[in-house]
Amino acid sequence: MIFLLILLSQAFGDQLVLSQILWRNGACTPTYCNWKCKEFEQQGILNGQLTPIGTRQHYVLGQWLRKRYIEDLKLLSQFYNEAEIYIESTDVNRTILSALSNLQGMYPAGTGPKINPDLNRSYLLPPNQKEFEDFGDAALPGLQQAIPVHVREKQLDIYLKGYDALACPRNEEFRNSNINSKLYYQINSKAQSLISDFTQQLGIVASQLNITDLYEYQDTFDSCEYNGYDLPKLKESTQSQMKLLQYLYFSLEHNIDFEQTRLLATPFFRNLLLNIENVINNQTEHKFRIFSAHAATVQLILNALNLTSFECVKQVYLNEKVQNKNCIYTFPGYASNIIFELYRKLGHGNQYYVQVLYNGTLMPICNNQYKCDYEEFKSRIQFQNVKDYEDECLISPKFKKEAASFILKAINVVITILFIISFCIIYLLRRQSKLEEYTKIVQQFDA
Ligand SMILES: *[C@@H]1O[C@H](CO)[C@@H](O)[C@H](O)[C@H]1NC(C)=O
Ligand SMILES: *[C@@H]1O[C@H](CO)[C@@H](O)[C@H](O)[C@H]1NC(C)=O
Ligand SMILES: *[C@@H]1O[C@H](CO)[C@@H](O)[C@H](O)[C@H]1NC(C)=O
Ligand SMILES: *[C@@H]1O[C@H](CO)[C@@H](O)[C@H](O)[C@H]1NC(C)=O
Ligand SMILES: *[C@@H]1O[C@H](CO)[C@@H](O)[C@H](O)[C@H]1NC(C)=O
Ligand SMILES: *[C@@H]1O[C@H](CO)[C@@H](O)[C@H](O)[C@H]1NC(C)=O
Repeated sequence: MIFLLILLSQAFGDQLVLSQILWRNGACTPTYCNWKCKEFEQQGILNGQLTPIGTRQHYVLGQWLRKRYIEDLKLLSQFYNEAEIYIESTDVNRTILSALSNLQGMYPAGTGPKINPDLNRSYLLPPNQKEFEDFGDAALPGLQQAIPVHVREKQLDIYLKGYDALACPRNEEFRNSNINSKLYYQINSKAQSLISDFTQQLGIVASQLNITDLYEYQDTFDSCEYNGYDLPKLKESTQSQMKLLQYLYFSLEHNIDFEQTRLLATPFFRNLLLNIENVINNQTEHKFRIFSAHAATVQLILNALNLTSFECVKQVYLNEKVQNKNCIYTFPGYASNIIFELYRKLGHGNQYYVQVLYNGTLMPICNNQYKCDYEEFKSRIQFQNVKDYEDECLISPKFKKEAASFILKAINVVITILFIISFCIIYLLRRQSKLEEYTKIVQQFDA
């Protein structure tokens, strides 16, 4: 019913003015050395690269986006227009490739640029080639469209990969304390029967395994399942328990408490709000923004929107009563995505609201609303954002500390050198005066 009303109101004129999508990479090769590690290594696929399956997943997601934003809601032009759309990715092969594959779905072959047919063909050649194959008026064969994807170096990527210690050093402390917490050991001991069951079926020794290892096994199994690599024959019940544990462990490592979540989510949300403000103030033509990132990024933002939490995932795992009725308790699978849409209300030129979709489904935000007034959305986000991200991440103090310790070391070295030099001078002077005394005595003798 609510969906129908929303659809109706949008059909009658609330206008979509901006959409921002955060997604995770598609299916990729394994990254952890556990199941069939040697084999995968020999085949050169133990490196988390996007696979043909992942490429297709994102291509299809791109087709979905084309239908929604180009055909149905008419937010974007039929043809790629660089003034309308801006794409960012983390500096990782699989996320860059996910973005490129997705954009092929959004702007498929046939939509690319054409050459002015009257142009002298000699202008189509680079300086080092004099003969060429004429593709006709298509700039690229098949009228393909090439689209730029922007990346930042890892150290500066606080927006999409802030959980990386390179970007936010403080998160290393959070992670260490999360995986050494009481909760870790509680869950680990609760998981003992699963561990022994699992290791028995796999025919390996149980003694060393903990829930971190089980998480990593499941990560590999996901890769095997999607890409058709060999999978172990596990009982259904073991498989489903492994999947629940995978997400519980992931939440535990990344989001045990809201402090960690709000800190790490701050730069992403600042960026998201800035993009919205720019549209509202007519300061940009960009109507569509893409952020191509990782499972941990999607998970972080779901947490920050209160659509999931470690608490509720734990309740699901332990079969307890679940407090958060909106709790997403499945791991953000390949190509899972969060969309933020900004609508201008019909007849209220300056009023806007926000909608959030997860994997294409409308989600309740701002305390169970499907449409959240932009002002409310903004104040909720700003309230939970941290004030001084750089400080709290230990970015600036760390540099200051490093600078200070460098100066101290330099002073130490200089003092030591001065000390040695003056010691030598004193020694030489004393030697000199002794020598002079000695020659005097010798001269006296001679005389
Ligand atoms: C990305 O791909 C390049 C070329 O295939 C490879 O050399 C590099 O190691 C890859 N980087 C990562 C982080 O996997
Ligand atoms: C095209 O340009 C080339 C080099 O500028 C010139 O030699 C040639 O005569 C031009 N052809 C025509 C049809 O104008
Ligand atoms: C879990 O096991 C791995 C090795 O299998 C080990 O490196 C890690 O420290 C263990 N984690 C904890 C918290 O015990
Ligand atoms: C932006 O442009 C829209 C439509 O052209 C107009 O209604 C609105 O008042 C403008 N907003 C600002 C802040 O200038
Ligand atoms: C999420 O929940 C926390 C704690 O209840 C609350 O302070 C915050 O405003 C909520 N965030 C959003 C975006 O609704
Ligand atoms: C996508 O979201 C739905 C909830 O809307 C969830 O049930 C499903 O598991 C998600 N899929 C992935 C791949 O994360």
